[in-house]
Amino acid sequence: MNSIRVFAPATVANVACGFDIFGFAVANPGDQITLTTREEPGVSITDIFGDEGRLPREAERNTAGIAIQTYLQHIGRTDVGIDVVLHKQMPLGSGLGSSAASAVAGVYAINELLGRPLPTVKLLPFAMEGERLACGSAHADNVAPSLLGGFVVIRSYNPLDVIRIETPASLFCTLVHPDIEVNTKDARFILKNEVSLKNTIIQMGNVAGLIAGLMTPDYDLISRSLVDVIIEPVRAILIPEFHEVKQAALDNGALGCSLSGSGPSMFALSRDIQTAERIGQAMQQAFLSVGITSDAYVSDINKQGPKVLESSVLS
Ligand code: HSE
Repeated sequence: MNSIRVFAPATVANVACGFDIFGFAVANPGDQITLTTREEPGVSITDIFGDEGRLPREAERNTAGIAIQTYLQHIGRTDVGIDVVLHKQMPLGSGLGSSAASAVAGVYAINELLGRPLPTVKLLPFAMEGERLACGSAHADNVAPSLLGGFVVIRSYNPLDVIRIETPASLFCTLVHPDIEVNTKDARFILKNEVSLKNTIIQMGNVAGLIAGLMTPDYDLISRSLVDVIIEPVRAILIPEFHEVKQAALDNGALGCSLSGSGPSMFALSRDIQTAERIGQAMQQAFLSVGITSDAYVSDINKQGPKVLESSVLS
């Protein structure tokens, strides 16, 4: 019998201008999963900690479970039996890529447990199945950075074409999660299907500018490009005090600030850790001014992605 415990990180999807095509991984928070082989074939979720009983325990209805199942089917190993224990270490419906972290942890762990039959990048479609289950859309901007680490561009979904780009060594992310919940499915439902040519041009300029700014690196260009004229104006209404919290981040030295994924978490980027911490306090204070408590996380860009915390051959 073999066992493995894996951590997969939270992620910031969209990164202002790149709806469904940009995402990066942070150092914390993240989810952990423990997989243990057993004789009876199939995948069972034996325990979930940290979800207050809210996540489905049936493997085919759970983001980690479905990712592991589709992976095993793909590699022709439905003879394998796996017990899954999921340790949720971030809130659900938070915009931190919670469902993605679980799916990535699951599929990365099973691939390691079986001696790595597939290269990491090939695990992406199985983790995306977890996202399809969680919100009805197999978007990759959380799973890809959680799996590959760093800042990831999804150039194309069909065929899947994912590019990992370099980011400046000194780039810090402040993530503030207010104590409210936004369901990704709902946050996608309220978006308009059509975009004006004028806004498309502005958004394309910012997308190109952000990539150039990160790769150069050019912090002023990063700052000018962290602008979203398409999604943020629609979704801002889901978050009380959105504009005040954003202003607090900018007033305290943020290069930019927007929703993290579909919210309610908000992220800000900055050049040093002291600024990132000050921004976090200011954003939390702005939420608190209307009685909303929050959690803040500060980290650099996590270039590693998932990591094996423990593995053992039990017998
Ligand atoms: N790109 C997705 C969205 C990310 O904004 O709906 C969800 O975390």
